[in-house]
Amino acid sequence: MLGRNPAELERLRGELDAELGDRRATMADLSDLPYIDRVLKETLRLYPPAYVIFREPTEDVRVGPYRVREGTNLTLPVFEIHRDERFYDDPDEFRPERWRDDFESELPEYAYFPFGGGPRHCIGMRFATTELKLVLATMARELAFEPTYDGDPDLTMAATLRPEDPLEMRVERR
Ligand code: HEM
Repeated sequence: MLGRNPAELERLRGELDAELGDRRATMADLSDLPYIDRVLKETLRLYPPAYVIFREPTEDVRVGPYRVREGTNLTLPVFEIHRDERFYDDPDEFRPERWRDDFESELPEYAYFPFGGGPRHCIGMRFATTELKLVLATMARELAFEPTYDGDPDLTMAATLRPEDPLEMRVERR
């Protein structure tokens, strides 16, 4: 996403340069890098690896106005909800800056759930987001990526969401 959105990449590099100077990011830096948090949130909104989550009630339940019978197969379309314009302006656009604190606190609870929710929420969420931010900070500071394809990639619904074809890019040291 950053390769295709140079203004957002420059903003991220500005934050990294100001906070880190010429050293690599460590875990201790992450709380001082709010923009990288927004880049990651926005990318997981547009491309949630767990693009659909399933549930099967073990007894009859009410969900809002609906009566759901035991054993019904429920499909929670994470990808679709993340691009629903009731919650997100220009939902298909990559806009990390939408993730202001006030925006996030006003969002309905399950309008954004790349790591699921409730008692079976992803146990690896903190590990995954820490790792993603450190990798992204390191790569954005040290490398330049230029995609060799145009437009949005075609997606395949495998066990997780993934691009149909490899996302080829030219990579150079900065
Ligand atoms: C970006 C990376 C990841 C994403 C998007 C992700 C997403 C999810 C989602 C959506 C669920 C809930 C599934 C459901 O409700 O049916 C889940 C559960 C789970 N995740 Fe992750 N996950 C990620 C990384 C990880 C990592 C790194 C680990 C382990 C180190 C991990 C371990 C688990 C486990 C064990 C569960 C099952 C929890 C339970 O059922 O109580 N995940 N994950």
